[in-house]
Amino acid sequence: MCGIVGYIGNKDAYPILIKGLHRLEYRGYDSAGIALLDNNAELHVYKTRGKVINLEQFCKDKNINGTIGIAHTRWATHGEPSDINAHPHYSQSENLALIHNGIIENYLALKQMLELKGFKFISQTDTEVLVQFIEYIMNEEQCSLYEAVHQALSQVVGAYAIGVLEKGNPNTLVAARKGSPLIIGVGKDEYFLGSDASPIVEYTKDVIYLNDEEIVEIKRGAKEIVVKNLANIELKPKIQKIQMDLSEIEKGGFPHFMLKEIFEQPKSLIMCMNGRVQTELQDIMLSGIRENIEKFRKARRILITACGTSWHAALIGKYLIEYYCKLPVEVEVASEFRYRNPVIFEDDVMIAISQSGETADTLAAIELAKGKGAFIYGICNVVGSSLARVTHSGTYTHAGPEIGVASTKAFTTQVAVLTMITLLLGKELGTIEISLYKQLVKALFEITNKIEKIILKADEIKNMSKIFTYAHNFMYLGRGYNYPVALEGALKLKEISYIHAEGYPAAEMKHGPIALIDEEMPIVVIAPKFKMYDKIVSNIEELKARKGRIIAIVSEGDTTISNIADYVIEIPNTEECLTPLLTVIPLQLLSYYIATAKGRNVDQPRNLAKSVTVE
Ligand code: F6R
Repeated sequence: MCGIVGYIGNKDAYPILIKGLHRLEYRGYDSAGIALLDNNAELHVYKTRGKVINLEQFCKDKNINGTIGIAHTRWATHGEPSDINAHPHYSQSENLALIHNGIIENYLALKQMLELKGFKFISQTDTEVLVQFIEYIMNEEQCSLYEAVHQALSQVVGAYAIGVLEKGNPNTLVAARKGSPLIIGVGKDEYFLGSDASPIVEYTKDVIYLNDEEIVEIKRGAKEIVVKNLANIELKPKIQKIQMDLSEIEKGGFPHFMLKEIFEQPKSLIMCMNGRVQTELQDIMLSGIRENIEKFRKARRILITACGTSWHAALIGKYLIEYYCKLPVEVEVASEFRYRNPVIFEDDVMIAISQSGETADTLAAIELAKGKGAFIYGICNVVGSSLARVTHSGTYTHAGPEIGVASTKAFTTQVAVLTMITLLLGKELGTIEISLYKQLVKALFEITNKIEKIILKADEIKNMSKIFTYAHNFMYLGRGYNYPVALEGALKLKEISYIHAEGYPAAEMKHGPIALIDEEMPIVVIAPKFKMYDKIVSNIEELKARKGRIIAIVSEGDTTISNIADYVIEIPNTEECLTPLLTVIPLQLLSYYIATAKGRNVDQPRNLAKSVTVE
């Protein structure tokens, strides 16, 4: 949600910043802007509504010289997407320019105070208030930019990752974070800022992950940077290596990141299970679980919290853990959990799931449970993210960077991690027979080949999808492990095609939604052949009797449903608890192809942004 990038060094800043914005555009694309200090230390801000490409167009005839700059791609919170509300924001004297990801919650009070002092505001943003406040402090206290930022942030309530430039001061870049991510890339005589590693990885693999309430002053050519926290204590920043290749953040010949990420799921699952699913021993190795097994053994229950797609994975986790580990599991949407004063026991184990590790509500839910003494186990994709740092232990999904706004490989790797956790816990707690454990470990290992087989059906699904571009509504039905997959299928279609879709447990149809069914309504029914099969066949019959158009996801060789449904997509046979890893693939492809057939920009769907860092 908003991407920020910065550079100070001896190269031209503009191309580095623009490329960085393109890489971060998945975080927001309402407007884009750039601030540069030119070779005379004059400050220039260029910004425009719309995507980064518009900004490039806008800058064509502008002075884009300079070896220090900051840039921003916006997902609007305060103030509509417009040129004026775009970042960077100038201070009143135009001596300062600031970019910001987050929300300054007390901006109205600060704005009123500044207005009384004669400050004028031209935008509706909280960010403009922050930059004016910094300027006010600089003038009042006659202090440096760094000191003023420090003082301002001590009085700010809210979340921020910021970068600030000062006219006449081409050797200093100031940045800070609280609640929104910020990484500093450390090159040879140059430094970079990024909301994540993607704008940095091309130039250096050495990075510093800034912690909350840390403020950094980066001086041109300096061997080290100065980092202080809000308590004014100087800290020694730790340089870490990023594990990311440039190829991972490029489209690699695919028209969209989303399609690339759907297709690379076999590979991401191999990375996720590498060294963890041990085929020869038919065993699972997860150090986070082994080291903390007593916490799980003593837990009276498990809470799983997450948002969106990660919440759907969490629901599958509940089915898995309750079935195989005999532990009660409650699944909580993080945004509800954090505000409803939930009962949390000291012996609770909370599993928090997040692809980005930066989702504000999930982080707040973690803080709440941690404060009450619960043990927090994270499942996260982004190494070094906030979630990874605030949890007691956890497992990375190792899916590789997910750039498409609609989550795909994050979901399957989260489900794979939940499956590994379940199997290992079941074995350690003695709730699962060893022979069954080994059988499931083997089946989990074999799942990637089965996903490959489904991906080979992409063209078939593409052809089928063209039939459904007319639809204004879709229904997704599943039972058991595949009920959360129905929710996920509906979410994927909604967010990238803008077709209204609902997911339901199949048997709930009769309790209301069946009233919606007519010959116009496509209904995706997930119906692999397991214990609920006959029941779901009856559900399909009921829908057919009302002229619904059925697209069924069935087990290989199914003849019964093939005779009733209008369209059928087969998935290879596997264990019932592993079917979500297969059934979700055709649903991702169906959404993708319907959306592209309707001409939607699937990598940048309207109103959305990846990584929801504001609540
Ligand atoms: C849907 C999607 C979102 C995210 C949600 C949580 O395709 O991407 O629903 O799943 O915003 O994000 P993370 O997993 O980063 O916490």
